[in-house]
Amino acid sequence: MGGPVFGFGGGRSDIWHPEEDIYWGAEDEWLGDNRYGDTRQDLQNPLAAVQMGLIYVNPQGPNANPDPLLSAQDIRETFSRMAMNDEETVALTAGGHTFGKAHGAGPEDHKGPEPEGAGLEEQGFGWTSDYGSGVGRDTITSGIEGAWTPNPTEWDNGYFDMLFKYEDDWVLTKSPAGAHQWTPGNPDAEDMAPDPEDASIKVPTMMTTADMAMIRDPEYRKISKRFHENPDQFGDAFSRAWFKLLHRDMGPKVRYLGPDVPDEDLIWQDPVTPGSTNYDIGAVKEAIKNSGLSVTDMVETAWASASTFRGSDMRGGANGARIRLSPQKDWEANKPDQLGRVLSTLSDIADSNGVSLADVIVLAGNVGIEMASGKEVPFHPGRGDATEEQTDAASFSVMEPLADGFRNFLKTNYAVTPEEMMLDKAQLLGLTAPEMTVLVGGLRTLGVSSDDRGLFSNDSSNLSNDYFTTLLDMNVKWKPTGSNSYDGMDRTTGDVLRRASRTDLVFGSNSQLRAIAEVYAQDDNQEKFKSDFIAAWTKVMNADRFDLE
Ligand code: HEM
Repeated sequence: MGGPVFGFGGGRSDIWHPEEDIYWGAEDEWLGDNRYGDTRQDLQNPLAAVQMGLIYVNPQGPNANPDPLLSAQDIRETFSRMAMNDEETVALTAGGHTFGKAHGAGPEDHKGPEPEGAGLEEQGFGWTSDYGSGVGRDTITSGIEGAWTPNPTEWDNGYFDMLFKYEDDWVLTKSPAGAHQWTPGNPDAEDMAPDPEDASIKVPTMMTTADMAMIRDPEYRKISKRFHENPDQFGDAFSRAWFKLLHRDMGPKVRYLGPDVPDEDLIWQDPVTPGSTNYDIGAVKEAIKNSGLSVTDMVETAWASASTFRGSDMRGGANGARIRLSPQKDWEANKPDQLGRVLSTLSDIADSNGVSLADVIVLAGNVGIEMASGKEVPFHPGRGDATEEQTDAASFSVMEPLADGFRNFLKTNYAVTPEEMMLDKAQLLGLTAPEMTVLVGGLRTLGVSSDDRGLFSNDSSNLSNDYFTTLLDMNVKWKPTGSNSYDGMDRTTGDVLRRASRTDLVFGSNSQLRAIAEVYAQDDNQEKFKSDFIAAWTKVMNADRFDLE
């Protein structure tokens, strides 16, 4: 259709069943909206759509209230949660609606059930309509009827031409399906759209309330005006925003495949210039060993850096050493004071050896584990340090860990339990249940916790299975002392011996996790515990090393 294209990167994988672990919202009926607090901006996280079953906002306006300014508020909130700013939002909506039409030829009750609710004889079709032919000009989908532009199969400036030409003449009407929509009061003949079945017949165009927001909201209007007067800027902004929409969950550019990958680095790809691979790893390790940092310091910092990785969109991870930049350096989970102290020592080592800090952070974690276990921990050099200019700080702030069971960290109490949040983090890191279990046990033994909860071992410089043997000790009785804290008391004397969190005790309480914890608690499984811990640790440290794949 002649639209501008910025590029294409292949490499997505197909899945063969619907994803079942996505939170779409708590409502159990279509268009339910129990997702707001006091204001329209107080939309429950991590949701972005305004109502159950919509992908963006209600096209008719908030809860079908045809008010373009209120619609603009919803659009801004929803699109910002997809990391789209105002310019990208206007470009996408206008560019998308340059093509195609909305379908609302007749009353909604002609539509049959959705594909999953329809009979076998429908063979996967759904929403089959008995209105007229049910297709073509008789189609009913959203309930809004009409194309946005007079040439809906061509890339042109028709969307803005229409919005501005009739800006004082848009009339709120209802589609044949009864939905609110806007139509020019007195359209010129050339501004009519072709009928879907017979192009010689001309029908009126329309705008949804959400489209009207593009000229009624003052900020959107400025952008729309500029795009209208500068079609090149519109084309460029649309092609870039479209590329972003379709590639944002693919992670760094190194994962894109094929000949059409654009050369230009884009800030939302979290670019990192690769670091050196050619250096004396042994010498750097020696410098780290002699730095005076404790095993806990080294391990906790490497974990804080690497564990930002999330497999959902391949962002985060140790590469880039963004942990030294805003906002990560100030995240509460990262214990900013301790982090600052450790990073200043590690930065000196990085500088004097000509190595990236990102590599030194991971190497320090490995050195700590090697010192504590007497075993070798695999290491792959080559991480680089991202600059502030390469870092979209605002888009990193949404990655702040609100809970990290591996560090016994919980920012505040949430509706979801800390142990469920730990599971979520584990799955974002791509960990299995045994990997999660061995990591929690090992990290706690090495002294990693937000306070004294879960620190059962007397020797945090020695990697042992103490955590599990202590947790499963039958001589200890646990008693709740707060929403996320428990005292472990000697069954006979009643003396308080230690404290734990929910994420600690779940490894004794949940039958599946307990079975794994018992394997690691076995006194003949010390070696297995250590090697499994090192394997799971290495998996997390390298989770973002797509260059190694
Ligand atoms: C404010 C956000 C948006 C709203 C409220 C919205 C609403 C709608 C509605 C109600 C329809 C008609 C569906 C039907 O009846 O079949 C539609 C169609 C369409 N939308 Fe959007 N949309 C939005 C943003 C976008 C974006 C970001 C794109 C792509 C970049 C896009 C591309 C399209 C296209 C191509 C069609 C035509 C489909 C066809 O011809 O069957 N829209 N939109």
